[in-house]
Amino acid sequence: MATLSLTINNKFHTVEADPEMPLLWVIRDIVGLTGTKFGCGMAQCGACTIHLDGNATRSCVLPVSAVVGKKITTIEGISTNRTHPVQQAWIESQVPQCGYCQSGQIMSAVALLNKNVKPTNADIDAAMQGNICRCGTYPRIRQAIQAAAKKMVASNTTLKTLKDG
Ligand code: FES
Ligand code: FES
Repeated sequence: MATLSLTINNKFHTVEADPEMPLLWVIRDIVGLTGTKFGCGMAQCGACTIHLDGNATRSCVLPVSAVVGKKITTIEGISTNRTHPVQQAWIESQVPQCGYCQSGQIMSAVALLNKNVKPTNADIDAAMQGNICRCGTYPRIRQAIQAAAKKMVASNTTLKTLKDG
């Protein structure tokens, strides 16, 4: 066990954990943020996607000791009440079916749009290819990302998210 200082959603957390424990378990079981999901545990499905210094990252295979000093953002950190343009677009497009994969999908979409606010469908497919949805919501995900891109341009969310999140 070790004492580790983490920055999650712009808050400092001191946790006692095995340095090799996957970040996902620290986020869910120690810090108590359960929006990030466990799917495969092998970096294959994207359910556990978080942002590490702004980049979409699989948390299920990442030892917690590797993220000390980095900026971790979970689905709970992108807005306080589902008001991020991507979340709004997801609701308006009624993207989720069972919902299990969707926090990971949204985190990958937000990371994409923070870097590329006018993605082509090919850009979207490339950025989202590591996020598996067993319910097959892919067409609506693509539609929602295009809608969110327009919202983000209109509200300048990209700049705000990069600065704050
Ligand atoms: S649970 Fe991490 S990629 Fe599947
Ligand atoms: S909505 Fe069911 S797995 Fe994606």
